[in-house]
Amino acid sequence: MRLLIVENDASVRQSLALLLGESGYVVETEPDATRALSRATTEDFELILCGLKLQGMDGLSFLRRLRAEGGSAVMIMLSEQGTEDAALAAVREGAYDYVQQPFKADEVVMAVRKAEERERLRREVEALRSNVGISAVQELVVSQSPAMRNVLELASRVARHNTPVLITGESGTGKEVIARAIHRMSPRNERSFTAVNCGAIPEQLLESELFGHTKGAFPGATTDHAGLFELADGGTLFLDEIADVSSGLQAKILRVLEESQVRRLGGRDSRKIDVRVLAATGRPVEQAVERGEFRSDLYYRLNVVRLHLPPLRERPEDIPELLTHFARQMAQRLGHPVSITPAALSALTHHSWPGNVRELRNTLERAAVLGVGGPLDAKDFALTNGTGSGQNGAPNGSLDLRAQVEAVEREVIQRALQTSKGNRRQAANLLGISLRTLFYKLRRLPAH
Ligand SMILES: Nc1ncnc2c1ncn2[C@@H]1O[C@H](COP(=O)(O)OP(=O)(O)OP(=O)(O)O)[C@@H](O)[C@H]1O
Ligand SMILES: [Mg+2]
Repeated sequence: MRLLIVENDASVRQSLALLLGESGYVVETEPDATRALSRATTEDFELILCGLKLQGMDGLSFLRRLRAEGGSAVMIMLSEQGTEDAALAAVREGAYDYVQQPFKADEVVMAVRKAEERERLRREVEALRSNVGISAVQELVVSQSPAMRNVLELASRVARHNTPVLITGESGTGKEVIARAIHRMSPRNERSFTAVNCGAIPEQLLESELFGHTKGAFPGATTDHAGLFELADGGTLFLDEIADVSSGLQAKILRVLEESQVRRLGGRDSRKIDVRVLAATGRPVEQAVERGEFRSDLYYRLNVVRLHLPPLRERPEDIPELLTHFARQMAQRLGHPVSITPAALSALTHHSWPGNVRELRNTLERAAVLGVGGPLDAKDFALTNGTGSGQNGAPNGSLDLRAQVEAVEREVIQRALQTSKGNRRQAANLLGISLRTLFYKLRRLPAH
């Protein structure tokens, strides 16, 4: 157990250090309060013995600033003649205890032992809580396949640390699901999880969203504005599609990671932040690094822990359980049971799912919404036969969003018309659109 003694009186410092050193603790001393504060927030001290009159600030301010900066070490105040009120005030604000001068050896050691015991309990509770998190997550994240089980196992091991994690995998493989799972299993799980899709926000806006800005920093900045790094303090920030931002902005993000502090655009001073950063990209990363799209320094910083989600076609064992999982969710939403025939299950399991888990879920949802009751059969899913290359009506492998959306629309409309046996009014009802909209769409979306 590492102890830090913060006290300006050299003889008190030395005698306490000697006493506690003999009792088996690793003790360090620091006369200067400001330096002590920076050590207490960057090094790993479990207990701090702190005088009430210090150089630079008093003991109560030290306690407040330590907590404000996220320091969680247990505090014992060292009180002398005339500081008893301050010692009590410190205890009210979260110090564990105080000892009074003249120090009696057994009183000091006893206070430290009790604090140590409490710290041990706190850590146990934290570990228990994150275990509860783990079992909750296992219910939320389907992981039947060995590949997914490995990913979840690694995720649960890294959850309790603050290391950045880089999550990779094709679109729809569950990158955000895993990021949320890490947050839930982490000691930060009672604080916020903030997701930012870096690829979807124009660069300049993204920069001020992330870092914040001061009034007048740029035209239109009419007030001070805290950035997401600041707002996520104590919690987790998920930077999605990280490789989609410019090299300049990547460099700025890297700086925040390295220094754990942010400066608002146009601002003068930096603020210390305590944020766990998780990042994801759907691009083949190594290639993006080679091409210079993903800065290698940021990549190395984020890649400390790498979680790769294989495409669904490489882990078909997950498909039946995913279907069960989604069917249960949909049954709840739709208010009637959703089930699948064995033939349909087999067809779905052999399908190649270019859009991965998201496509699987959408396909099931579509069938469940349009189905006429009873178990869903293979024909209800409008899959191309057998182990197709995964056309689901959509142009194969195409990333053109409009084409994809139109293909899906076309397919859903056809299903609705089949169900209504060509009755357009009924089909429009099924689709939840007006008859006019249906006519319009039928004109715009020729069958092939
Ligand atoms: N293992 C899983 N268990 C349960 N649901 C999952 C799993 N993986 C993915 N999903 C579901 O699939 C959908 C897509 O997942 P997610 O948004 O995490 O993918 P993504 O990799 O972030 O995709 P994109 O790159 O397109 O953003 C979500 O609805 C999610 O709930
Ligand atoms: Mg995503």
